[in-house]
This record gives sequence, C-alpha cells and structure tokens, in this order.
Amino acid sequence: MTYVVTENCIKCKYMDCVEVCPVDCFYAGENMLVIHPDECIDCGVCEPECPAEAIKPGTEPGLEEWAKLNREYSAKWPNITSRGLAPADAKKWDGVPGKLASFSPDPHQDPSQTDSASATTPVEESLP
Ligand code: SF4
Ligand code: F3S
Repeated sequence: MTYVVTENCIKCKYMDCVEVCPVDCFYAGENMLVIHPDECIDCGVCEPECPAEAIKPGTEPGLEEWAKLNREYSAKWPNITSRGLAPADAKKWDGVPGKLASFSPDPHQDPSQTDSASATTPVEESLP
C-alpha cells in the first residue's frame, strides 16, 4: 500500500509534493496530481509538505476509491518533477467539500505555454 493523493488536491494543486519525492512518482492532471502506486516507495516525505493535507497513507480506511483513481490516472497523465504555478484561486478551494465533482480527467497543461499563446495572439492580430 502506498501514499495516495485525495480529494482536497482538486483545484488546489499546490505541487509542493513533487519537489520532495525522491523517486519522482507524481503525475499531473489539469486540476489534481496523483501518485503512481507501483513507483511510490512509501517514504512518507510528501505527506507533511502538502499545504492542503491531501496526501494520505493508503493504509487509512476509506481511501479505496482514491487509490483506484491514483492508479488509473498515473497511467494516463504526464510525469511531473518540478513545481509549477498553483491555481490563482487555490486558497478559495482548500477544504471545500464535494470537490470530486470538479475533477478533470484531462492531463496537465503547462500554464506558461497557454499564457504566452493567449497573450501574444491578440497583439499580433492587431499589428498592421
Ligand atoms: Fe514520493 Fe515518498 Fe510521497 Fe511516495 S511517499 S509519493 S515515494 S515522496
Ligand atoms: Fe495536490 Fe498537495 Fe501536491 S494540493 S499537488 S497533493 S502539494
């Protein structure tokens, strides 16, 4: 049994966890991260690093659904090894119940790429 990322990561996605994992076993979705259960060595280093307290030992009761979600999406999403920008409204979502309804199955996108694309396009279009 390994550590699992649970509901409160959704829409908080602080990413402090990826900086400390010695085996780089975090995988990133659009608004949540998950841990690859076959790669995690159960060291526990990431658990206290999460400001949202979203990382739990998989031995805790009632986490079966989250363990399943971590397994499923760690096989689908890209690996992430360095922290990006947390969502601007992360604090607002911290602790909000029922966030599973907001879960996105889409993979992580580098916000710097999205920002530069949306920031430069209108400028270019307005040039004579
Ligand atoms: Fe990485 Fe250790 Fe956390 Fe597993 S418990 S995800 S190996 S930091
Ligand atoms: Fe999520 Fe906590 Fe990591 S909010 S991205 S598990 S630091």
